Amino acid sequence: MASSFGAAQVLVASNRGPVSYEVADDGSLRAKRGGGGLVSGLSAIGPEAGALWVCSALSDGDREAVRRGVGEDGVRMLDIPADVHAGAYNGIANSVLWFVHHMLYQTPVEPVFDAEFRRQWASYEAYNRAFAEALAEEAARGAAVLVQDYHLTLVPGMLRELRPDLRIGHFSHTPWAPPEYFAMLPDDIARQVLRGMLGADRLGFLTHRWADAFTACCERFAGGTGDTEIGVHGLGADADFLRARSHEADVEERIATLREEIGEGRRTIVRVDRTELSKNIVRGLLAYRQLLDDHPEWRERVVHLAFAYPSRQDLAVYRDYTAEVQRVAEEINERYGTPDWRPVVLHVRDDFARSLAAYRLADVALVNPIRDGMNLVAKEVPVVSDAGCVLVLSREAGAHEELGEDAITVNPYDVVDTARALHEALTMGPDERTDRTKRLAASATALPPARWFLDQLNALRDGPAPA
Ligand code: F6P
Repeated sequence: MASSFGAAQVLVASNRGPVSYEVADDGSLRAKRGGGGLVSGLSAIGPEAGALWVCSALSDGDREAVRRGVGEDGVRMLDIPADVHAGAYNGIANSVLWFVHHMLYQTPVEPVFDAEFRRQWASYEAYNRAFAEALAEEAARGAAVLVQDYHLTLVPGMLRELRPDLRIGHFSHTPWAPPEYFAMLPDDIARQVLRGMLGADRLGFLTHRWADAFTACCERFAGGTGDTEIGVHGLGADADFLRARSHEADVEERIATLREEIGEGRRTIVRVDRTELSKNIVRGLLAYRQLLDDHPEWRERVVHLAFAYPSRQDLAVYRDYTAEVQRVAEEINERYGTPDWRPVVLHVRDDFARSLAAYRLADVALVNPIRDGMNLVAKEVPVVSDAGCVLVLSREAGAHEELGEDAITVNPYDVVDTARALHEALTMGPDERTDRTKRLAASATALPPARWFLDQLNALRDGPAPA
């Protein structure tokens, strides 16, 4: 029996992996490495730990890499058929589960769970099964498996059946919907999602609020959480990395360019987001417009740096949202701009060095999501800003649980109150601003990515042995 087991002692499974490939003009494959909490976490356990990251091929380059047998040590990419992946990722994960957990539906007209939904659900099951089978094949006896996110809710249950000897964890990087909203899912699907998750020994969430919502859903639809342990691990910012990276030459160059765009002596309100519907960028712009109406004294004296980077552009609703962000930003610039003042500086091309430059220049950080698992921007800006910044923070962001006391809290739907909060932030005295920034940076860095990952791994390994 044991001889049929794989060799990996620690396995991570996620839709998007730590590396992606592009086919260059000469036909060769170029690898691009990603960052984030999981990448830092896995590097912290060292190469001798026998770790394997199982992920999905996402692009043509990725699929080509799998076919040519090109790959990085410690990564296994699954070449799931493109139509199955599209049904699972675009159809279910991003258009249903993401919408449910972030409560994004316009309920008079959506969701509609029709025959097409059922076809996509079959793809979601097949995609989850492909992960479960790969993990079952690669895991050493008794290995720890850390499954990530809403894309892979069925994996713990499927894997438990294939390999009862494993210690299985699952971590949700998103919010979890309250039972009244989760109840929109067809009953059998709601039960399948919860039972899939409850196949894990241990489930992790970013905040108590999301963990409690999950537990409430289980009580209502699955007869409780059974033997599954529930833990809360609030991923923090990586202070050492951010402080060093934000002083490299490319960031200094971007600072010079941004200073020209801002103009001499002006204050800055900074936001940096992936353009997801949950980020509430349009209401952020409307609040800024309200500020310019309510407090004309800020005209010509403040600039809103809004970086809205592309995300999930296969989905029309995301493309439309990006267009709306651009339209509202242009409207503000046309209405209020003067020959030497552009009120909104909007950038939509992803540039990490420019994001760090904006963090350093921030007087105010605006983080106003409708709902967000954590929101790392809220944690990163106070760590990086040169002169300290005031954080205007939505009470619906997971980060609010840790940072709320030292931020200015807003209801993300209330643009008049958000405008008031922006004014309060811009007028805060320097001593209070410095004190608050220090406390924000301390809370924001309390659980850096490596610690966050190791805590989960240790808790999973220290838990009761699988039956
Ligand atoms: O930010 C929440 C999150 O679920 C991350 O955990 C995950 O990496 C990301 O969203 C998924 O985004 P994408 O669809 O671009 O892979």
